[in-house]
Amino acid sequence: MKFELRNITRRFGDRIAVNAVNVEIPQGQMVGIIGRSGAGKSTLLRMINRLQEPSSGSIHFGSVEVSSLKGAGLRNWQRDCAMIFQQFNLVPRLDVLTNVMLGRLNHRSTVLSLLNIFSDDERLAAIAALERLGIEQTAMQRAGTLSGGQQQRVAIARALMQAPKMLLADEPIASLDPLNAKIVMDALRDINEREGITVITNLHTLDTARSYCERIIGMAHGSVVFDGTPAELTAAAVQEIYGSDKDGAGIDETMTSTSINIPAAQAGREQQSGGIGSLASASA
Ligand SMILES: Nc1ncnc2c1ncn2[C@@H]1O[C@H](COP(=O)(O)OP(=O)(O)OP(=O)(O)O)[C@@H](O)[C@H]1O
Ligand SMILES: [Mg+2]
Repeated sequence: MKFELRNITRRFGDRIAVNAVNVEIPQGQMVGIIGRSGAGKSTLLRMINRLQEPSSGSIHFGSVEVSSLKGAGLRNWQRDCAMIFQQFNLVPRLDVLTNVMLGRLNHRSTVLSLLNIFSDDERLAAIAALERLGIEQTAMQRAGTLSGGQQQRVAIARALMQAPKMLLADEPIASLDPLNAKIVMDALRDINEREGITVITNLHTLDTARSYCERIIGMAHGSVVFDGTPAELTAAAVQEIYGSDKDGAGIDETMTSTSINIPAAQAGREQQSGGIGSLASASA
């Protein structure tokens, strides 16, 4: 189903965080949003799942006007677009399995959730999600004891438990080392390709957006200043997105590159361990 932002604007006082953004995304696309700090990337993402309200404009998914949903309709929407954050947002003192099952929160009664009563089916589904991410061996560990890369994979497993139609990720790899960044991005790509779930992810590294996203949206000062394929993202387009610094010096791609350049030895090890279903041994 087509997802659409129509003329979406968000103001904070007299500052415009997102300025009249129009975007149409067909089901199943993998989209990267890039731009400088403060460009409005997080605000845009948060409006999509209604964590933040637009000041004006409307949001549509198929024939549903998302921006006017209330009550149960709004909760269903928030279940349909799962969100992943830079800081994982797990409950550190609960075990991994429970954290993943919490993805079902919006599917079930509040009382059962509060009592932490889960069905066998829910447990099996949570274990399957953990297996898919290659971290089933951590199921009984407290989430707070896992490495960052493992925690982000738990967060993705939790998102999968929501059976979402869209997956929103706000800088999902910004706190991770290169190897874990690659594992997490590979997992997002795998979900996008195998389930056909639309993935929209904010990234602050251009090279990651180029290698993982079929479509890149560049924001500057709240506006969309680029919307196209990685091939179309020329040096001039990069310049427009990232601008030049106060001294007038240009931006070159290395300045916005971190990372997913894994040293050869590490990358070899990771390749041997195969796809995302068998990454357990490669994890940090
Ligand atoms: N809750 C808020 N109250 C006031 N201003 C806000 C709020 N949230 C965001 N802003 C402002 O809106 C603008 C866009 O912020 P946003 O967090 O969306 O940028 P971003 O592109 O995600 O940046 P970063 O790369 O640093 O995460 C910034 O000027 C920011 O200060
Ligand atoms: Mg942000």
